[in-house]
Formats: sequence, C-alpha cells, structure tokens
Amino acid sequence: MRDLTPRKSDLDPIEIASVDEIRALQLERLKWSLAHAYENVPFYRKQFDAAGVHPDDLKQLSDLSRFPFTVKSDLRDHYPFGLFAVPREQIIRVHASSGTTGKPTVVGYTRKDIDTWADLVARSLRASGTRPGDVVHVAYGYGLFTGGLGAHYGAERLGCTVVPVSGGMTPRQVTLIEDFRPTTIMVTPSYMLNILEEYQKQGLDPRESPLEVGIFGAEPWTNAMRQEVEQAFDMHAVDIYGLSEIMGPGVANECVETKDGLHIWEDHFFPEIIDPDTGENVPDGEIGELVFTTLTKEGLPMIRYRTRDLTRLLPGTARSMRRMEKITGRSDDMIILRGVNVFPTQIEELLLATPGLAPYFQIELHKRGRMDAMCVVVETVPAQADEAARDVARNTLAKKIKDTAGISVEVSVGVPGTVPRSQGKAVRVIDNRDKG
Ligand code: DLL
Repeated sequence: MRDLTPRKSDLDPIEIASVDEIRALQLERLKWSLAHAYENVPFYRKQFDAAGVHPDDLKQLSDLSRFPFTVKSDLRDHYPFGLFAVPREQIIRVHASSGTTGKPTVVGYTRKDIDTWADLVARSLRASGTRPGDVVHVAYGYGLFTGGLGAHYGAERLGCTVVPVSGGMTPRQVTLIEDFRPTTIMVTPSYMLNILEEYQKQGLDPRESPLEVGIFGAEPWTNAMRQEVEQAFDMHAVDIYGLSEIMGPGVANECVETKDGLHIWEDHFFPEIIDPDTGENVPDGEIGELVFTTLTKEGLPMIRYRTRDLTRLLPGTARSMRRMEKITGRSDDMIILRGVNVFPTQIEELLLATPGLAPYFQIELHKRGRMDAMCVVVETVPAQADEAARDVARNTLAKKIKDTAGISVEVSVGVPGTVPRSQGKAVRVIDNRDKG
C-alpha cells in the first residue's frame, strides 16, 4: 500500500486550527443555529418554550445541555416537510430513509446545504487518501438514500472522475473496476465483500485490482474487517460516517495516515455523548449515545438529535477536531440475550478470527421454550467445506463467543454461499422470537 497522507497545505485551515479557534467558531455558529431553529420552525419554538429555554440562554457551549433533544419520531410526526426552516421553494433536494416501520423520514437541503455537504465529502475523500484527478467508483445506492449522491457530489467537488455505478449487478461492478481503473471505491463494507467474492469467482486476483482506497460506511464494521479487506485487495480501508438527518455521508471520516477513529467535522456538527437512559452528558472518553447539533444547516437544522449510535469521543490526532471511536452498534441493534448485551460487531470480530470461516454472517433469534436463543449463521471458505472442517469451525466459534461474550449460542456452519449476501446495508439480525 502506498503512503497516501495528504499534504498539510491541501487541508482546509480549520482542520488543523487550534482547539480554541474551533470552539470559538462553534459557539458563534451554535448561537446562529439555535436562533434559526427557534425563529423558523414552530416545533423547536414549542420545544424550547416548554423546556423554559431561549436561544439567548446559550452563553457557552456547555449551555447546550439545557436544550431539549430531538428524536426520529419528531421527524415522522412532522412528515414530510414540517421541520423545514425555510420556504419549500428554497429546498433544492430531498432525501429520505426508509426506516423499519411506517413513514420514511424526509430531509431537505438548500443550495448552500448541498454545497457544504459536497465540501465535507470532498474533505472526507481527501482524508481517506483520494486526490484530485483520481477515478472514484461509487457503489453506494443512488436515489432517496444519501449514500450515492452524497459521495458523488463530494468526489466531483474534489476534482475526481466519478463513476456513478450505484449498488447491485456485482459482476458488472468488477468489470467496471477492471476497465475504468478507479483507485478509490465508496461502498458499504458488506457489499465490498460481495465484490471480493465476485473477483474470486471470475478468477481475478483482487490484489492486482487498481483500487488503493476503500471508503466504507453506512453500517458498523470492525477493525478485524478492515484487516480482512486491506489484505484481500492490498488497499487502504477507511471509515466514513453520517446519517441523513444530520446531512448524509461525511459527518465524520477517518484519516488514512492514522486510521484511529473518525474525525468529526466539528466546524459544522457539534457532538455530545449522553447516557442513553438518563439523557445526561458524559465526559469525553466515555461510551454512550452520540448526539449531534447542526451548526450551519439552513434547510433542516437539527438540535441535539439522538442518533442511537454508541461510541465515545476522543481528542484529535491527525486533525485538531475530535474523533469518534468506530461505532460499536446502534442501541436498537443491541441484542439482549438472557440478560447479556451483545452487538453484531462483536460476532464479526470473533468470526474473522476463526480459521476456515468466510466473512459473511447473520444472527437469528428465536424462542427455545420460554428462553431466547441465538443462532449465528456462518459458512466456510471453499477450501474448508467438508464436514470435519465445519465441525471444528463450529466448535471454535461457539467457544470464542462463550469465552468473550459469556453466552452460549448455536452456530450453524453452512457450505459456501449459505449466508444471504448484502446488496447495501447488511441485515445482521433476523428476529423470529414472536414467530412461535
Ligand atoms: O447511512 C449515510 C451514509 C452513507 C454514511 C454512506 C456513510 C456512507 P442513513 O441511511 O440515515 O445514512 O443511516 C444512518 O447508519 O445512524 C448509523 O447507525 C449507520 N452508519 C452510518 N455510517 C456508519 C459507520 C447513511 N461508518 C445510520 N459506522 C447511522 C457505523 C454507520 N454505522
């Protein structure tokens, strides 16, 4: 892998400004954002009034904790455009996320918001090691999902040649990579594994592919997965984070030179970590739920939006802005099995450390009598598909899970191709507990 560290002179000055400068900018912008929300969105006015706070009460950044939270159902309750802070005519684009139940959540952007978003994705690409003039293959889905278009505008903004492939049609993905010679790919990590498998099916050596940088996000993935993909493709794998409510991809991104967690682009988003049960702020360094307040967004300002994502804040390294640790999981994805909390990322890590198993998995939950039971469905690599090898892998993985997570689970080891392949965001947990 080549050293792709960007030159300091190519960074936005604020990326390496002093922490004091960043805090001062945040305070100024936060005051604007609170006033903008209060004056233009009846929902926020009602919420602030009910909590007995006014935007003028914010004298320092820590005063933000006096303001009420916003949650996903607030967006649903004001479906589709009720939380927009500008007349609808000034919104030049909407995106939406499907969600698991009911109406989608709709988000809107002014021209300036789209511009900021493109700048921040360009900054994320640069942090990942991509340079102007590079060819960028975008395999995030295009459409209402923010992944495809978000990545696309950012890559154009950096000055790259964008290949807007979107997701799906995996054999064609490989053909386009081999023919158009992109050096960067933007895709979910689980779909990257599909592309890897297709390389193998076509008898091509992925290490000979033109790819040098993979910018993976939209779902949790582990450092173990980073190693797996980096080795398979001989490429850098970096993490990109975002959510549509706050903007889309490019809220935070890892730096290729350190790969030590994601720098939050704090000049546009103010992060907090709270205890998800009490709603109280916890200090930097402690794990909890990530909460964001937008600092510059015009179309849809978000004040103290609860992401449900679990992580912790760490001081800056390659950039001055704070980092968030790789996400452990969403509080909604946490499995509580007989009183023990387990995240799919823990299973991913253990699976990747088990010889003979392929990197695909799903977790099935069901009832065994009155108890909850969990089955981890995995498969072997082609060379280890015989009965004896599968037995060994089954026992090894079950033991690893028992030893580290402290729970007994069933492990089902199938032949290659057993586990359903991801087409975008992977479905990790199948809950059959209420299916008798
Ligand atoms: O997934 C935006 C995105 C697109 C991010 C492409 C990165 C790349 P939503 O569909 O609104 O937006 O889903 C947001 O996905 O709250 C997290 O739970 C999860 N997520 C996103 N990025 C990561 C990541 C896009 N790097 C939700 N690691 C978020 C872990 C992630 N989880």
